[in-house]
Amino acid sequence: MSDGPGPLAGRRVVVGVSGSIAAYKAVSLVRLLQDRGAVVDVAMTRAATRFVGPLTFASLTHRPVLDDVFELDADQQIAHVELAEAADAIVLAPATANLLGELAAGLVGDAVTAIACASRAPVIVAPAMDAGMWTHPATQRNVATLREFGYLVVEPEVGELASGLTGIGRLAEPSAVLEAVERLFERGGDLEGLHVVVSAGGTREPLDPVRFIGNRSSGKMGAALAETARDRGAAVTMIAGAMGVTPPRGVTVVDATTAQTMREAVMRAAPNADILVMAAAVADFAPARASQRKIKRSGENLQIELVPNPDIVAEVGEMPDDIRPFLIGFAAESQDLEVNAAAKLRDKGLDLIVGNVVGGPFDAIGSDENKVTVFGAEGSLTDWPMLPKRQVAERLWDLIGDRYRTARNTDGSAPGGRRRRRS
Ligand code: C5P
Repeated sequence: MSDGPGPLAGRRVVVGVSGSIAAYKAVSLVRLLQDRGAVVDVAMTRAATRFVGPLTFASLTHRPVLDDVFELDADQQIAHVELAEAADAIVLAPATANLLGELAAGLVGDAVTAIACASRAPVIVAPAMDAGMWTHPATQRNVATLREFGYLVVEPEVGELASGLTGIGRLAEPSAVLEAVERLFERGGDLEGLHVVVSAGGTREPLDPVRFIGNRSSGKMGAALAETARDRGAAVTMIAGAMGVTPPRGVTVVDATTAQTMREAVMRAAPNADILVMAAAVADFAPARASQRKIKRSGENLQIELVPNPDIVAEVGEMPDDIRPFLIGFAAESQDLEVNAAAKLRDKGLDLIVGNVVGGPFDAIGSDENKVTVFGAEGSLTDWPMLPKRQVAERLWDLIGDRYRTARNTDGSAPGGRRRRRS
C-alpha cells in the first residue's frame, strides 16, 4: 500500500449493478472502492435486487441505494440526476447483455441506465453473462458502440459460468475492476510543478452599450482542459471569455470578454506559463467604434465597419524563446481540416494544433462531446473517436505532457527546433 492518499481518495464513484448472478461480486467491489477512500453510491436495476438486497449495499455504504428512476432525494431533487452530476466515475458491474443493449440504444428505463446516460463522468462496464450471449453479434455490436461512446470495458474472463459450463463471460475479478477505476485517476500529478494557462469561451465585441458581436462558444472544452490540468497537479490560470459553464474550482480565473482584453490577459500570463492552450474562440473582427449610446432603429440600412482583431496566439508564437510557453492552438474548420490546421500551426508558430470540423451534421460548439485530431509539425498525430469533452481533455494532456517533456529534454529544443528556456 502507498503511504499517501491513493487516486480514489475522496472520489465519488457510482456502482451500477444489474441482474446477474455475479451481482454478489459487486459487494466486494464496493468494499474495495471504499477501502481506497472512494465515496460509493450504489444504483440497482430491478432484476439486480432479486440477486442481492439493496439493504446489503445500503448497510455497506451508509447511503441510500437508488433502485427507482422516479425517486426523489431528501431535498426533493431527482436522485439519479443528482448522482449523475456528482459522480467522478461510474462503474457498471456486473453489466448484463440486456444492460449493454439498453445503454447502446440509449434506453433509460431504470436508475442504472438513467445515471449512466445523464452523466458526463467516465463509465466503466464490466460485463457478465453466459458465453453464448457474450459472443452473440448483437452483444459484440453493443460493446463496440459503447467503446465508441468512450466507455471503458473490463473484459469478462474465461471460467466456470452460472450454467455450470466453462466459457467466456465470467465477471472480471473485483480487483481487476478496481484497477480499471484507479487507472482513471492515477495520472493525476503528471503536470505537477507546471503553470498552465488555458483560454476558454468566446469573445464579445461591443457595438453599443447593450449589443455585441459574439459567437456560440460555450467554453466547455476550455473548462474541461483547465479542470483536468488542475487534477493532474498543474497550477492553472483560466482566461475566460463569455462562458456558458461555470469555471472549475481551484483555478485562477481572469475575465476577458473582448479580444483586446483577452490579448492583454494572455500577454501578461504567457511569459510566466509553461504551457498555453488557446481554446478560446476569439473574434477575428471587432466594430471599429462602439457607439456610446444604444443604436436606434432609423428605417435605413445600418453599416458597421469591422476591423481585424490582433491574432493573440500568433503574437505569443513570436515571443522570444526564453519566455515563449509551449503553445497549443485550436482550429475549427468547416472544410479541409488537415491543410488548414497545418497552415495555422506554421503561421501562428504553434507546437501543436487541435483541429475539429464544425458546421457539419455534428456540431462540437456547445456540445458535451467533441471529435478532434491533433496535428504537429509532422502531420496528424491522433485518430480518436467522438468522446466526452472531459475525456478529450485527458487525452490532450497525455499528448501535450509527453510533447512538452520531450521538447524540454532534448537539449532544450521544442519540436519546431526552438530553444526552450528550461533546458
Ligand atoms: O485563425 P483562427 O481563428 O481559426 O485560429 C484559431 C486559433 O487562434 C485558436 O487557438 C484561437 O484561440 C486563436 N486566435 C487568437 N486570436 C485571434 C483569433 C484566433 O489567438 N484573434
